[in-house]
Amino acid sequence: MSTRRSAAEAFEKVPTLIFPNSAAAAAELAKEVKQIIETKNRAGKPAVLGMATGSTPVPFYRELIRLHKQEGLSFKNVITFNLDEYYGLKGDHPESYGCFMADQLFNHIDIPKENIHIPNGTIASDQVFAHCREYEEAIDAVGGIDLQILGIGRTGHIGFNEPGSSRESLTRRITLDRITRQDAASDFRGEENVPSFAITMGVGTILRAKKLVLMAWGENKAGIVAKAVEGPVTEVISASFLQDHPDARFLIDSGASRELTRFKLPWLVGPVSWTPRETQRAVVWQSVKAKRPVLKLVDEDYNENGLSDLLSEQGPAYQLNIRIFNRLQNTITGWPGGKPNADDTYRPERARPYPKRCLIFSPEPQDAIVAIGATIDRLREQGHEVRVVSLTSGSLRVADSEADKFASTLLELGATAADSAQWQAQTEYARELVKLIEDKGEFGEDPPALRSLKALILRGELRDAAHAVGVPQEKVVFLDLPFYEKGRYRRFFSSPEDVAAVAAHVRDFKPHQIYLTGDAADPSSVPAIAFKVTESALKECEQDDWFGTCTFWLYRGKEKAFEPHEIDMAVPLSPVQMERKERALLRYQSLSSLEHQSPQGNRDAAKQYDGLGLAEYEAMECFQRWKRS
Ligand code: F6R
Repeated sequence: MSTRRSAAEAFEKVPTLIFPNSAAAAAELAKEVKQIIETKNRAGKPAVLGMATGSTPVPFYRELIRLHKQEGLSFKNVITFNLDEYYGLKGDHPESYGCFMADQLFNHIDIPKENIHIPNGTIASDQVFAHCREYEEAIDAVGGIDLQILGIGRTGHIGFNEPGSSRESLTRRITLDRITRQDAASDFRGEENVPSFAITMGVGTILRAKKLVLMAWGENKAGIVAKAVEGPVTEVISASFLQDHPDARFLIDSGASRELTRFKLPWLVGPVSWTPRETQRAVVWQSVKAKRPVLKLVDEDYNENGLSDLLSEQGPAYQLNIRIFNRLQNTITGWPGGKPNADDTYRPERARPYPKRCLIFSPEPQDAIVAIGATIDRLREQGHEVRVVSLTSGSLRVADSEADKFASTLLELGATAADSAQWQAQTEYARELVKLIEDKGEFGEDPPALRSLKALILRGELRDAAHAVGVPQEKVVFLDLPFYEKGRYRRFFSSPEDVAAVAAHVRDFKPHQIYLTGDAADPSSVPAIAFKVTESALKECEQDDWFGTCTFWLYRGKEKAFEPHEIDMAVPLSPVQMERKERALLRYQSLSSLEHQSPQGNRDAAKQYDGLGLAEYEAMECFQRWKRS
């Protein structure tokens, strides 16, 4: 953990502590909360905690539960106020924040029910105003909040204070921002099901708390964290108001810290050890800043932008430029499996053995094809044995309307078939499914039969999409890892069972190459959990014969794309290959359009390379060599 106030943190306007991972940060914060509870209780007072929901506080709540169960921390004298609640969801809706808090914390500790406060999202419209005022009064009546936990949305919101919320705003009903609703889409199986409104504490309410702690994990949060910590205080990013609070802190993991100046542009804040990666980062940055290709940068560019130190170590510019240009150039290859019979000194992947066994891990059925479908296509076309492994079934992503469509088709088939008597069992099954969909209502939990139909729909779509990039059915494998089958979004727990299933599969295939994603994702997301499980499975295989010759390639799914200095292999796509990939993605009919966004990312990657003065391709799929710890 690093603390603030060093020269390196000169750009940060609020104390920002960086931890290796969310669990370490959560443990530290839970320890502090324990102290607050004990100190207040010793003084005969209740501790008042402000709670947040979403995936961010989950590791913290797990740690509080551990402290309660293993170290006897009591919550009998704790009062809580939650930041917010969706407006318009039934109280027992599994995605309501009331249910979330019960599941994640309250049901596992000894807090009295009457001490728990969560805005009422079911209150009649004409009573919302009074309810919000009473919420404010209830906070004041217990002497205010001692410590308020916060997460941050991609819009920069705290609570649900979307852009435009004023510093003085109080508890009120608000309209959720489009981005916030998109981020909640997987919880609700589609953006259209996400409530449009919420009741939230205001920025003013939050700022009244004695201490504020904002947590953020994963690279997806890095951009907004940097704006909130280093940018101006503005209503556009309500988290930036923390800069004005006398006792506010950001606790973040290394992924979420990546856009802070001390990591992104370290040469602006102090001496840098010029490793090849840092050098490449600086040259690429300089090229983007000057809007000139790498080979056209001159000494003045470096000197005038804080890079004179680099120049004196590795200059003049002309030589530095050529070295970095060549390094970038060497990342580009149309042969992701290595080029047989070619000198591979400067190629990202070795030529031998040929052909290779390539294992592609897809956290959910769509991830791999969306992110690296064209590379899969090439590997197979170039004679390698490709196996696509979907780690989870993805069933939670499929909308009821899709399941209904399949069940209704089956029903109709039974009714119209000439030998309809023989369809009786199938017709019964379809009727049962239609009824299950009706009975559970818009927001109910999927019963097992419905979940398995949804899994089958997605299986079909992955097989179809894989086929569109040339991978035959029998090379597509579904592991349906138990952590996914037993959980819901933001509430997954992996177990040794998951690890064993992945390890068994890898051992069976003995790959020469493994492609995987999720290392940089929000730790409670499916890709991040799948990544951890895979990482543990690979650890188990370390002594196997095949392991030493296997290479590991990271790709980016929904996480933030690699920047040019992070890329070790860039596979270019021609317009025709891009079209082929886009056609493959259309096979995922049951998923929302958001799941199909990667082609634009592939085009942006190619544009970046072009801007640096490298060849101009239609698109690129990019990879980083995974150096396993
Ligand atoms: C939830 C809340 C929100 C979340 C934010 C981040 O009570 O107040 O501000 O903290 O939307 O959500 P996650 O943690 O799911 O990324």
